[in-house]
Amino acid sequence: MISDPPNSPKSVLLIIGGGIAAYKTLELIRQLTKRGIRTRAILTKAAEEFVTPLSVASLTGDKVYTDLFSLTDEAEMGHIQLSRSTGLLVVAPATADLMAKMAGGHANDLATTTLLATDKPVMIAPAMNVRMWQHPATQRNLKQLQADGVTVIGPDEGDMACGEYGPGRLAEPEVIAARIADFFDKSVGNGPLAGRKILVTAGPTHEPIDPVRYIANHSSGKQGFAIAASLAKRGAEVTLVSGPSRLGTPAGVKRIDVMTAAEMLAATEGLLPLDAAIFAAAVADWRVATEATQKIKKREGELPTLSLAENPDILAAISRRAEHRPPLVIGFAAETEQIIENGRAKLAKKGCDWIVANDVSPSSGTFGGDENRVFLLKGEDVEGWPKQGKDAVAESLADRIIDYFEGASS
Ligand code: CTP
Repeated sequence: MISDPPNSPKSVLLIIGGGIAAYKTLELIRQLTKRGIRTRAILTKAAEEFVTPLSVASLTGDKVYTDLFSLTDEAEMGHIQLSRSTGLLVVAPATADLMAKMAGGHANDLATTTLLATDKPVMIAPAMNVRMWQHPATQRNLKQLQADGVTVIGPDEGDMACGEYGPGRLAEPEVIAARIADFFDKSVGNGPLAGRKILVTAGPTHEPIDPVRYIANHSSGKQGFAIAASLAKRGAEVTLVSGPSRLGTPAGVKRIDVMTAAEMLAATEGLLPLDAAIFAAAVADWRVATEATQKIKKREGELPTLSLAENPDILAAISRRAEHRPPLVIGFAAETEQIIENGRAKLAKKGCDWIVANDVSPSSGTFGGDENRVFLLKGEDVEGWPKQGKDAVAESLADRIIDYFEGASS
């Protein structure tokens, strides 16, 4: 079964630890589904002694991940992507062993590797024998995890499976599900951009030459996806129109997948009216004038000629609309030289309000990399930002967008 990243804005990656309480996670998954929260699950080796992957899979409606070194799993979805394509990671039951590994930063199986690789919030619901819970080592690990920003649910006090009484029981599935639902309610639709409808385009476009070949570029989509995530975190209603990209959908973001520039334009127009539109996609400038219906064959001594047609300029088309032009239109300028000058020219040519000009020369490592050096051009104003992670660029841009709306409404 090949599973796509969950497109539901509310999705949880549930890491099921190996404890007697593991069976209760089946009820937890049911409770989450009832609340419109999609679950994808990882089982530790020990957890498989208590619940079967099949029973978990039948409730999540998705493949269950168990093995770090499974080539099929890594080909379908690597552990890094698994850890990012979700809004929240939940560990239940969090055993003493899992807590110790998390606190120590271990990464020797799929569960711990995913927990170490994630950039998403983490909640744990501990469950263990009362003495194990009260042991100074566990309490030390608990403090460390809380200091690392992990949210802890429970444990409850009561009769334990081992016959003892005290704290150590897994919190009730309804309680864990309610805390998870609360997390999503708070993070979606709240914040300074609440009520703002914002579009972000991202990724490359693929322009077919024939049924097996296409024109494309090296864009990974990282910058656009990071912007969508930052805006959603600030409460905006974000739609990400993405060309082909392996990245997971950020939490709270609605995603529309497209292939070509023409499809990207149609999807964008379909979303108007909007409060703001950010065009981070690396749209292919040209497509072949007539796509071959059959694979173009190699013929001796003969080279095929591709005649190209210009693609619609989506940014310019939206910027120049008479009706429903978003009040704030932001473009990107991918440049390999004279970044500010070329960015300024693009601002005028496209008719947008701001341009984020960035250096995409091969030496910059921007395309496909994690860092970006940008200049924000607003009319005559130029802000040079230091070379920083694409996430940090996204956060700064989201803050400028908040300033814009606050200025516009005062
Ligand atoms: N863009 C677009 N549609 C296109 C081409 C570009 O919406 N057909 C948008 C991009 O998303 C970006 C901006 O226009 O926000 C500038 O893209 P860039 O590739 O830098 O500019 P081009 O217009 O393609 O110009 P050139 O390739 O000559 O630099």
